[in-house]
Amino acid sequence: MLEFSGGIVPSAAILDASDPLAIEKAAGIIRKGGLVAFPTETVYGLGANSEDPLAVARIFEVKGRPRIDPVIVHVADPASAARYGRLPDLAQVLMKRFWPGALTLVVEKTDAVPPIVTAGLDTVAVRNPSHPAALALIRASGCGIAAPSANMFGYVSPTTAQHVAEQLGNRIDLILDGGPCSIGVESTILSLAGAVPSVLRAGGIPLEEIEALTGKLTVLIHAEQRPMAPGQLKRHYATQTRLVISAEAAQDLRPGERAGLLSLSMPGDSEKYAAVEVLSASGNLKEAAANFFGALRRLDSLSLDRIIARPIPEEGLGLALMDRLRRASAAETPPEADSGPPTAG
Ligand code: TXA
Ligand code: MG
Repeated sequence: MLEFSGGIVPSAAILDASDPLAIEKAAGIIRKGGLVAFPTETVYGLGANSEDPLAVARIFEVKGRPRIDPVIVHVADPASAARYGRLPDLAQVLMKRFWPGALTLVVEKTDAVPPIVTAGLDTVAVRNPSHPAALALIRASGCGIAAPSANMFGYVSPTTAQHVAEQLGNRIDLILDGGPCSIGVESTILSLAGAVPSVLRAGGIPLEEIEALTGKLTVLIHAEQRPMAPGQLKRHYATQTRLVISAEAAQDLRPGERAGLLSLSMPGDSEKYAAVEVLSASGNLKEAAANFFGALRRLDSLSLDRIIARPIPEEGLGLALMDRLRRASAAETPPEADSGPPTAG
């Protein structure tokens, strides 16, 4: 609970996203400039009317997000994407194959996008989510919805309504509960704004699936390799508990240390750890992605000395998971010290 001069701020209502009345109420809040957390197939988003600069400014305040980090505009269909971005031929091909779904496209922006949304860049990120509640909310609102993940900046992304309520419940107007996110990691971000298409963030659509259509892509997901725009922090998706990636985790345990283990499949030495999170008993990377952020949150809630993560194979959704683990394990760097481009949030 937040204390303010008027007393305690009540926590936002959590409404069932499958209820049409809840969608209507949420859309009314968006139209009036309020903030609604809503489910998508990737992670929960914190949404505002993308054409209302004051509403978008509130997103940055509530998340503690630096204004230099642009947000994605969520649309209900490819036609609405054209209101906000200039879509080249390749965008049409990609939208036909992957929309609605977990692919975000960065393209040249139109005047319908206020500068605060894109942090002053002349490009905009557009995404057409597939979650029925997200689509219903966008349609009922009658505008694009600017939305970052609904977590405090830099922390683990939310994959349930409860996760949102724990961090942001008393700072926003409404939470729509659409159940746990089916994919569990953020969208893949592909920029079509440069000389060649380039992948800015590994995410819910595996790189291999996009490359099957486009041919080999330039991949710029490591901050140091991306000198083009502000915003991306090397440390992100981070737990409060220190996290290290180690293949031989058990050998690294210090005497008396209470460590938690995050592992794709069941380890042989689980008794050495104070807690163990297995992402998928069968080693399935889709199941692992769906469990990933929830498992990190559970480990982070146990006041452990350290979280030790076993490396995950970097294929399919594993590429996105290892990217998140690397950022979570990166040493703390102040935002000014980071010169990489956007793609975290
Ligand atoms: O799956 C997702 O993409 C989720 C759900 C809610 O849709 N959203 C999400 O938003 O992950 P966020 O803000 O946490 O991450 C989006 C990233 C930002 O870090 C930003 O750097 C990048 O997208 N981005 C946005 N606009 C951009 C632009 N014009 N150029 C390059 N990167 C951009
Ligand atoms: Mg984020």
